[in-house]
Amino acid sequence: MAQLIDLTATVKERTHRLRERARDRVLTAIAARLDVGKVESVDAQPLGTGDHRVVDAATFRGVMSSFPSGVGVVTTLDDEGQPRGFTCSAICSVSLDPPLMLVCVDRRSGSLRAIRHSNGFVVNFLGKDAAEVSQVFASPENDKFGAVEWQPNESTGLPVLNADALAYADCRLEREILAGDHAIVIGCIRDGGVPDPSHRPLLYWRRQYASWPGSVDHLANAS
Ligand SMILES: Cc1cc2nc3c(=O)[nH]c(=O)nc-3n(C[C@H](O)[C@H](O)[C@H](O)COP(=O)(O)O)c2cc1C
Repeated sequence: MAQLIDLTATVKERTHRLRERARDRVLTAIAARLDVGKVESVDAQPLGTGDHRVVDAATFRGVMSSFPSGVGVVTTLDDEGQPRGFTCSAICSVSLDPPLMLVCVDRRSGSLRAIRHSNGFVVNFLGKDAAEVSQVFASPENDKFGAVEWQPNESTGLPVLNADALAYADCRLEREILAGDHAIVIGCIRDGGVPDPSHRPLLYWRRQYASWPGSVDHLANAS
């Protein structure tokens, strides 16, 4: 009986992986048809799907939410020229020369399609009073931009959250790498700024918001 249960679990797991691989191939083919041209092709073995143990979703969330982060809103324009955006904490500096950064985006996200379409995105790092803005951009709400102050970046037209961002980076889409249910989106920073260096950041840890503790006076001149 135990052997039968083991066998059923193995068959289920294998079927799941085969489906995932088929889905990856279809998505890559669609991206190629749309002339995205920047999606890294998925080879025979998608990331993390080898024959080994993995933790469950609850453990993954518990571990990852223990790492405190800042909070960003990634903004862009869709194929109708409408602003799109979502709250994002998976943000990382990649390279100084050339200036590259990455964001990780859920592959079901409407914003990912918009990023592909506009070939670019803006990362807005939220200031300490913008927890509500973070919640708005983390929701499936259609008119997220009705709730915030924003303006098109002069050089690219992409939306910048000028009232709530302590810094922003306007990126040209360079490469997209499919990784499980997310896409690693790499951008080259073509414009950006830190309008007020004394503005404190919004932080996120174990599903709670906080602001930077202590004084930031000595940081105002830091580079
Ligand atoms: C603090 C915080 C951080 C988040 N980080 C990410 C992230 O790094 N990548 C991502 O795809 N979604 C992230 N999300 C979830 C998205 O914001 C959420 O799924 C959003 O509804 C997606 O919007 P869209 O479907 O309109 O693109 C985060 C949410 C919160 C509250």
